[in-house]
Amino acid sequence: MTEFVEIFEVGPRDGLQNEARAIPVAEKIALVDQLSLCGFQRIEVASFVSPKWVPQMADGAGVLAGLRRMSGIGYWALTPNQRGLDDAQVAKADGVAVFGAASEGFSRANINATIDDSLARFRALVAHARARDLPVRGYVSCVVSCPYDGAVAPGSVARVAAALWDMGCTEISLGETLGQAFPEDVDPMLAAVRNEVPAAALAGHFHDTGGRALANIDVALAHGLRIFDGAVGGLGGCPYAPGAAGNVDTVAVAKHLSDRGYHTGLDIDKLHRAADYARSLRGQEHRP
Ligand code: HMG
Ligand code: MG
Repeated sequence: MTEFVEIFEVGPRDGLQNEARAIPVAEKIALVDQLSLCGFQRIEVASFVSPKWVPQMADGAGVLAGLRRMSGIGYWALTPNQRGLDDAQVAKADGVAVFGAASEGFSRANINATIDDSLARFRALVAHARARDLPVRGYVSCVVSCPYDGAVAPGSVARVAAALWDMGCTEISLGETLGQAFPEDVDPMLAAVRNEVPAAALAGHFHDTGGRALANIDVALAHGLRIFDGAVGGLGGCPYAPGAAGNVDTVAVAKHLSDRGYHTGLDIDKLHRAADYARSLRGQEHRP
C-alpha cells in the first residue's frame, strides 16, 4: 500500500479569481463538473467576498447551485466575514475558509484589516461555522515573503497559524502567495509552524512563479504534510499579489507525488481534459 496524499483542487477559485474576462457561470460550472470526475475529495469552487474587491467571484452562489454534486466530494468556498459565511451556507458549501496573512501589508491589501483585527473577526466566524457543523480551513498568506513588506519571519507565520488552529480551524493551509520561495526558506517556516499545529492538519499552498513549487512540496513532505493545494492547468494568481503566477499545476503535483511513491487517487487522463478546458477559459491554447 502506498501512502495517500490529498491534492485539494483550488482552480475554480484561486485559478479563476484573477482572470480579466468575466467568465460566465455556466463555464465555471462546466469546469467544476469536469473536475468532479477526476477523483478529488475536495474542490474549492467559490468565494463569498465583496464583488467590489473581486468581481470575478460574484457568482459563487450560482456555481454552487448549478454544479452536479458527486457523492464523496466536498465543494468549498472562501468566506471573509459573517455575510460570506451566511451566503456560503445558504448555497450549501460543504466547507468554508477564512483567509488571513502573516504580513500586515498583505492583510490590509487583501482583506482591509490588520492581522489582529482579522483574527478577532475570524474567531467569531469560525465558532459560527463549527456550530453549524462546517469544517473550516484557515489560510495564512505570505508565509515566506510579502509583495508589500518583503521577507516574513517564520515566527510571524507560526503565530497566525497557531491563532487560527486554536480558534477551531480544522486545517491550516500555508500560502506561499508569491511563488518565489526557495526550499531553504520553506524549511524553517514549516519547522516553526509545526511547533504550533500538527503536520496532519497542515496543507501546502504553493504558487509557482519561480518554478520551485515541486521542490518546496518535497520539503513539506519531509515535514509530514500530506495535503497540497493545486490548480488544474496551473491557473491563477492573486489580485492583491502583483506579479504572482498561478498555483502549482495539479497534474504536475500528481505526477511528482506518484514518482515519489505516493498515491493521490486522481485520474491523470481526466485531469488533462479538465486542464485543457481550464486553459480554454483563459483564452489559452490547449496543451500541445
Ligand atoms: P471592506 O471594504 O473593508 O468591507 O472589505 P465592507 O464591510 O466595508 O464592505 C464593502 C462592500 O462590500 C459593501 O458594499 C459590502 O456590503 C460588500 P457597499 O455597502 O459598499 O455596497 N461586502 C460583501 N458583498 C458580498 N459578500 C460579502 C461581502 N462583504 C462585504 N461577503 C472584505 C472587506 C473582506 C469584504 C474585502 O476586503 C474582500 O472581500 N476581500 C476579499 C479579497 C479576496 O477575495 N482575495 C483573494 C482571495 S485570498 C487569496 O487568493 C490567497 C489564497 O489563495 C492563499 C495564498 O495564495 O496566499 C487563499
Ligand atoms: Mg493562492
